[in-house]
Amino acid sequence: MPPERLSPVPDFLYGTAWKEDRTPALTELALRMGFRAIDTANQRRHYFEAGVGQGLAAAYRAGVVTRADLFLQTKFTSQNGQDHRLPYDSAASLSAQVAQSMASSLEHLGTDYVDSYVLHGPSSGYDWTDADAEVWEAMRKERDAGRTRLLGVSNVSLRHLQQMAATHGEGPAFVQNRCFARLGWDRDVRMFCRERKITYQGFSMLTANVDALRHPMTTGLATRSNATPAQIIFTFARSVGMLPMTDLAIRNLELSPDSVQAIESLVG
Ligand SMILES: NC(=O)c1ccc[n+]([C@@H]2O[C@H](COP(=O)([O-])OP(=O)(O)OC[C@H]3O[C@@H](n4cnc5c(N)ncnc54)[C@H](OP(=O)(O)O)[C@@H]3O)[C@@H](O)[C@H]2O)c1
Repeated sequence: MPPERLSPVPDFLYGTAWKEDRTPALTELALRMGFRAIDTANQRRHYFEAGVGQGLAAAYRAGVVTRADLFLQTKFTSQNGQDHRLPYDSAASLSAQVAQSMASSLEHLGTDYVDSYVLHGPSSGYDWTDADAEVWEAMRKERDAGRTRLLGVSNVSLRHLQQMAATHGEGPAFVQNRCFARLGWDRDVRMFCRERKITYQGFSMLTANVDALRHPMTTGLATRSNATPAQIIFTFARSVGMLPMTDLAIRNLELSPDSVQAIESLVG
């Protein structure tokens, strides 16, 4: 991977889950609208990764972007997160499954490298297990072979991250987590990430936080900023250092430090 092809870590991600047959057209549209970073997964149950690749190909053909302009992030999803449409041999070792899933992702996306490769979730909700360690080491091999620039983990607790750091030394570049306002917007994990310069990507910012969206402070700020409550939540997320998956209209929105602090402790 020549260095001139490296894209920087983006400030916005376009999420491609649950778009099914609309995935190619929506991916192309996102690129036309200015998104340069895409989040997907080789998990047919929730994502249509090959459809993302079709959208990318259409945008390349139309001259909207080139591969070098983009930040592509995909995920390895273990069997307990998949349906019957597996991107690997179910009888293979976990290490082999990672290699097979990565090869399939590169084919789907029509590229020879991704920018970020994320472990979709640890095998246990509690500990960082030997199985997770095997998967992570296999992901590191993919990185060392140049098939991904960076590595990440998703759906992790502070405990997972601490155990992971103790086991492997090297931590992830990204954490992608569901972010509940009532849990201080995942405060413990965000603080861990901040200390270690890990970029925190928050998801379910809207769907998990209906109370925060409807809160009079949020709606009041929205009215005063000529924005929507969703845009206020995403602007807050950016203000505390999260990498959001949202529309680009918030690029120029700003909140005062007092407002950011008030939202941070809204429901937490
Ligand atoms: N790692 C994981 O386990 C995991 C789990 C869930 C989701 N994700 C990723 O996160 C992405 C977003 O999913 P989410 O659950 O986090 O969604 P969300 O933030 O809770 O928002 C729900 C939906 O609202 C729309 N939206 C975005 N910005 C908006 C705005 N400013 N105003 C109004 N609506 C807006 C988006 O739909 P449109 O895209 O259709 O515009 C989004 O899918 C997914 O596509 C996926 O890539 C990852």
